[in-house]
Amino acid sequence: MEKLLIKGGNSLSGKITCSGAKNAALPMIASTILSDEEVTLTNLPYLQDITTMFELLGSMGADILLNENMNFTIKSNNLKDIEARYELVKTMRASILVLGPLVAKYGKARIALPGGCAIGSRPVNYHLDSLEQMGAKIILKNGYIEASAKKLKGANIRFDGVTVTGTENLMMAATLAEGETILTNVAREPEVADLAEMLNSMGAKIDGAGSEKIRIQGVEKLNGTVFKIPADRIEAGTYLAAAAVTNGDIKIDGINPNRLMKVIEKLKNSGANIDFDEDSISFQMKNDVPDPVDITTAPFPEFPTDMQAQFSVINAISSGTANIYETIFENRFMHILELNRMGCDISVNGNHAIIKGVKSLYGAEVMATDLRASASLILAGLCAKGETVVDRIYHIDRGYERIEEKLSYLGANIVRLPS
Ligand code: EPU
Repeated sequence: MEKLLIKGGNSLSGKITCSGAKNAALPMIASTILSDEEVTLTNLPYLQDITTMFELLGSMGADILLNENMNFTIKSNNLKDIEARYELVKTMRASILVLGPLVAKYGKARIALPGGCAIGSRPVNYHLDSLEQMGAKIILKNGYIEASAKKLKGANIRFDGVTVTGTENLMMAATLAEGETILTNVAREPEVADLAEMLNSMGAKIDGAGSEKIRIQGVEKLNGTVFKIPADRIEAGTYLAAAAVTNGDIKIDGINPNRLMKVIEKLKNSGANIDFDEDSISFQMKNDVPDPVDITTAPFPEFPTDMQAQFSVINAISSGTANIYETIFENRFMHILELNRMGCDISVNGNHAIIKGVKSLYGAEVMATDLRASASLILAGLCAKGETVVDRIYHIDRGYERIEEKLSYLGANIVRLPS
């Protein structure tokens, strides 16, 4: 298994460009199922999760072509095998995103039921309940979701809880339903609005995505499109956090700062000077040591759970004590045990982590448990004394494109060790 070796102590400086967003790209790839025409996606990040989503569509019979400009063209007409097998779903829960499009376009879907994962139980009941409200028949059998509907019908649906992929699934399904669908208590994450923009460019009639209420007027069919994947706000936030723990001075190009205002606000509270324009963020740490910042994760526009682990490290080397409340996932503190092995002083009580800043961290051999947890271990390695070896980095390759290259470019001492 490959590992990352980090020699800590270098301040990050310089400029990098943000990659395309994994969590925008995944539903966009799934949405190609809704059209018989070619869809070209540009700026796709090279990530394991993207490859898995292509594998899933390929296994159903989609034609996927990589053209000379490294853009992917997908033609998902005439899918034969309307099934997401357990082998794929167990490696990537976002496979559930093909459920809505398949039922809407092909009238049926068979998707392996995702189980729990490293960050929590993560059920999909909101997806299923709301599809049922649109007239789908859903049976759970042998570990699979079997869904069918002659034609989905528009409905007034209020989600019982805010769900990002659930909102995306239903929005996609409703584009080809009969009549109007109104979704409330929806996720307002930028990736939901991005998906709506793409679907509208294919001829869908979606209004309000990014707000609390989404209105979708069903249409007969969707056309092809060419669409650029927007930049990854969590990738950008992670590099800013890396600069915060290394007393850095960096610029990130290609990212709209409005997508991470809460993260920017908290970084400023930790002692950073941040300037931005509509397409870049410049970051400079003012203090040698970050100030502690309290965090409570919540759906957008509040502080993202996907940045919680990275802020654990900022707080771990801060000048005081900070409280982090994780309200989205019940088990998203797996990184804490590993961070404590590097000298952090963090105690966890349920969904509350109390982080006492320490003078310095020291390198250790640590194990990644999920994507954002891995990012936090790398950040800890960057500011620790000595060498850190991060194992199980396949987690990081799911969501960060060429992370060691980008960090090396900013001056970090980090290399990938072959298996
Ligand atoms: N939930 C339910 N029932 C459902 C759906 C969700 O109880 O039917 C609960 C979940 O268990 C969780 C909460 O609702 O406690 C929110 O989950 P959500 O459905 O919003 O998460 P998701 O759609 O599965 C997406 C991202 C995650 C990100 C979360 C929260 C994608 C592909 N994944 O997951 O990204 O953490 O939203 O913002 O968009 C990551 O990139 O590392 C990652 C985990």
